[in-house]
Amino acid sequence: MEIIRIPMIMLDVTMTKRMRGKTIGFVPTMGALHEGHISLVRMAKGENDISVASIYVNPKQFGPAEDFLKYPRDMEGDTEKLAREGVDILFLPDDSHMYLDGFTTQVRVEGLSERLCGFFRPGHFTGVATVVTKLFNIVVPHKAYFGQKDYQQTVIIKRLVKDLNMGIEIVVCPTVREKDGLAMSSRNSYLLKDERHAATAIYSCLKEASEAVRSGTTDVKELKRLMENILRAVPLVSEVQYASAYSPETLEEIERIEEEALLAVAVKIGSTRLIDNLTVVPTGDIGG
Ligand code: PAJ
Repeated sequence: MEIIRIPMIMLDVTMTKRMRGKTIGFVPTMGALHEGHISLVRMAKGENDISVASIYVNPKQFGPAEDFLKYPRDMEGDTEKLAREGVDILFLPDDSHMYLDGFTTQVRVEGLSERLCGFFRPGHFTGVATVVTKLFNIVVPHKAYFGQKDYQQTVIIKRLVKDLNMGIEIVVCPTVREKDGLAMSSRNSYLLKDERHAATAIYSCLKEASEAVRSGTTDVKELKRLMENILRAVPLVSEVQYASAYSPETLEEIERIEEEALLAVAVKIGSTRLIDNLTVVPTGDIGG
């Protein structure tokens, strides 16, 4: 596995490979890699001639009171995992190369960025859209791989790629879960033992709501009540930020499940913020 730290070198390498007719699959990450990340890497490897992964904990997508400094970092372990998967190139930029003195440009995907998580994390998705635009300009992939776990992020990135004519195919991969259903996340490492147990309520509430849809419930008020009741019954759930059904395209809350819908949840368990989602259709098929 080749490790590249300088954006200009990464761009040079990728352009040379493209000129030779190679296809490039890209997986951007913030590291502390788990099986969810690895599933994206495997997809990228399987579908392209060259696989590129990046690890960069992007300061611009963390709010001032958020966990940027304590975000888990494991460069040695991550490098080993990616090498074991046979990744061709690991792009590892540092802040001084990503955000040069005087950096002032922002990429904002209006509307979509303010809903759901965006409401509770102002500026977060502008930070994501800006860094992903930069990474796309540096790696110039044919395809880029994202997890459904961060559903809103996938909608925003698809919009961005379309609006700015980037010509990159965005592939959304299913959420990888622990045995008890908890979606894998780098932030799960923050959870104490009791909190980790409490976190299973997130998937339970999504499952229960999707079962309710399967057995004919279409009224979102009812689904919302069901989801909130399950979450609020767990004392360690300190805050339910949202738990309801949304349009999978606009991310706006809907009133009735009439076609495919997104069931999405954000809670705080102690001080750890966790999110998850499932897609449902009125006939009861479940995705994610
Ligand atoms: P990070 O949280 O490291 O996630 C990197 C990619 O892994 C994202 O596409 C995310 O959706 C995916 N992922 C995380 N958990 C997953 C799971 N349990 N199953 C499947 N995929 C999962 O998302 C980011 O980093 C950043 O915002 C980034 C896009 C890198 C921009 O900084």
